[in-house]
Amino acid sequence: MSQITVRQMNFDFSEQTERYWCGNSHFRTHFFNSITLLFPDGEQFMLRTIKGQIKQINNLQLKQEASAFIGQEAQHSIQHENFWEILQQQGYELKTYLRFLRFILWNICENWLSIELKLAMIAGVENCTNVVAELVLEEELLAEAEPKLKELFEWHAAEEIEHKTVAYDVLQNVTQSYLIRLLGMLIGYTFVFGFLNLGLFMMLYQDKKLLNFKVWQEMVQFLFIKEKFLFKVFLNSLEYLRKNFHPLQRDNFFLVRKGIG
Ligand SMILES: [Fe+2]
Ligand SMILES: [Fe+2]
Repeated sequence: MSQITVRQMNFDFSEQTERYWCGNSHFRTHFFNSITLLFPDGEQFMLRTIKGQIKQINNLQLKQEASAFIGQEAQHSIQHENFWEILQQQGYELKTYLRFLRFILWNICENWLSIELKLAMIAGVENCTNVVAELVLEEELLAEAEPKLKELFEWHAAEEIEHKTVAYDVLQNVTQSYLIRLLGMLIGYTFVFGFLNLGLFMMLYQDKKLLNFKVWQEMVQFLFIKEKFLFKVFLNSLEYLRKNFHPLQRDNFFLVRKGIG
């Protein structure tokens, strides 16, 4: 039986959300806003690719886990997209960014990559989200955020940890090539960090905060000095390079409870 639970959520962001909802920090707010812009389409791409593989999975447990993965990612996609309306109400223009993101996902990745590489890309992205989810929950990166948004990100982080093995196991079911796994990781990480930065700078630019000294100070503190976010993501991702790597080797299931509450 699959241990992955699909939880139907219904976040309502209709109340007045503060413009700088993450501890009144311009940088942190736009960093997490950028994640919110990236997730819905990224997750649709992942779940549709995994859905296309379900018939080829003979292992019953993996089949159940894959359908739970699809259910969870669909929920993440819907709930994060709900917040776009608030961002648009706050005056941000998201259409150009989304058009470009969709072009890369559906015109380039979907058409140009083989199924093996698509799955390897997804397994790589899932490793990245697992590492980030662990930091979000362990270091309470959203401790000062508005409660609804804190709940959204922590619920999502918990479920990312809960289903962390699925994309990897589906990839292994199709190919066990180490080279394809690494190439997929490279594509996946480039995609995530490329769009994360693009979204962040776009939001800061639209908010007229791109040249704000305090924003850059906060960014450097968060990424390299205080939270060392980038350093930790990089370091914790290195284990994916081991030939005999499996997501279960990372002991972080205890954090699922913390995120679901
Ligand atoms: Fe997700
Ligand atoms: Fe995921």
